[in-house]
Amino acid sequence: MTSDLTHQGISFDDTPLGFNTLSIHLGNGVDAETGAIRRPITLANAYALPYDPSDINWSSSDVNLYTRNGHPNQRYLEAKIARLEGAEDAVVLASGVAALAAVFTTFLNRGDHAIFSDTTYIAAYRLLNQILPEKYGIETSIVDTSDPENVARALKPNTKLVHIETPANPTLKVSDVAAIARLVHDHDADTLVSVDNTFNTPFNVRPLDLGADIVVESLTKYINGHGDALGGAIATTKARTDEIRFTAQVNYGGIISPFNAWLINRGSVTLPLRMRQHNASALAIARHLESLPQVRFVSYPGLESHPHHDVAVSQLARKDSGFGGVLAFGLDTDHDGHNRFVSKLNVITSAVSLGHDESLIVFLGEDDERQYLYPPEFHRGFFRLAVGLEDTDDLIRDIDHALAEAGL
Ligand SMILES: Cc1ncc(COP(=O)(O)O)c(C=O)c1O
Repeated sequence: MTSDLTHQGISFDDTPLGFNTLSIHLGNGVDAETGAIRRPITLANAYALPYDPSDINWSSSDVNLYTRNGHPNQRYLEAKIARLEGAEDAVVLASGVAALAAVFTTFLNRGDHAIFSDTTYIAAYRLLNQILPEKYGIETSIVDTSDPENVARALKPNTKLVHIETPANPTLKVSDVAAIARLVHDHDADTLVSVDNTFNTPFNVRPLDLGADIVVESLTKYINGHGDALGGAIATTKARTDEIRFTAQVNYGGIISPFNAWLINRGSVTLPLRMRQHNASALAIARHLESLPQVRFVSYPGLESHPHHDVAVSQLARKDSGFGGVLAFGLDTDHDGHNRFVSKLNVITSAVSLGHDESLIVFLGEDDERQYLYPPEFHRGFFRLAVGLEDTDDLIRDIDHALAEAGL
């Protein structure tokens, strides 16, 4: 009985359960058939129908029917994500991009206007800057949301959605979610504010507590944390998750596989432990990089030199929150010098993605089509470094020896 209460995240006294306890127990439970204390992976595509199935709504996501309509492993993970984000409900889909597309396609209709951050993950940019305007007649404005005044100026009578990515990939610009939510809702209480919280995770920042309506997470990154499964989540009200399930899950088919949902549920058990290490290591490395003469600039919200450091501090969800594991920096060298440096790294791997156990680095060259949207220091080429869980000293030594071996 006690364990059932714990698995539903209900406290046994007046003190709410903490983030660590919830990360471990939510989404888990005793398997009714075997008594196993880990939930099994349910891989079946279909579920037994009742004697008379004729009144079933085949588009429903409320009953066990067909895996695309929803499945147990998805629901266990959803219960955990909703609670960690402070939301009434959550939907888990096949990837972070499936989650972003679900928000845009569920809540935007032909003739609506949407505002979005000038730096976002590339697929959000493609969807909002190209695919939705060209194919579906949705009007969009790219705005530097790190200044809330820019959002205020871009609002129109038909603005239905303001989508913010903070910290933004790859510039690490930070937007003031509370200020933006306030001014958007003053303009029109029905205009939705959605926040891509992938870089922060709910351990560091909870956008719904700051006034956002919808939070999107790529579960592929920190929440899974092991670099072996794609997934995405949207946390918001039950009324909105119902709409998303109908549109993006059942009818566009963006359902997550049971295996990936199970993997992400398992990975997320250690989210708070991992985030503390990512936060601490990234801050130490950002400070080290800032002290090196070969480094032209470092962008990390935890540094006092970051233009939105105070906003980043004001958003932290708890005492042990930090500023995430991703930073950007540029070397005082040319295109080839940046590539030479990467080729000399031994511990840090040159690959896309972030939020994994291992550290990953990507060189983003001068020719990126979105350079014009980035601050000037990014125009000579730069790195996105996703600091992993290795010993911080090993990562710092790796950077130092690669600089020396690259002749920098
Ligand atoms: C901020 C952010 N949002 C969304 C995504 C997309 O997530 P996924 O790769 O799970 O589709 C990414 C991927 O890197 C990301 O960095």
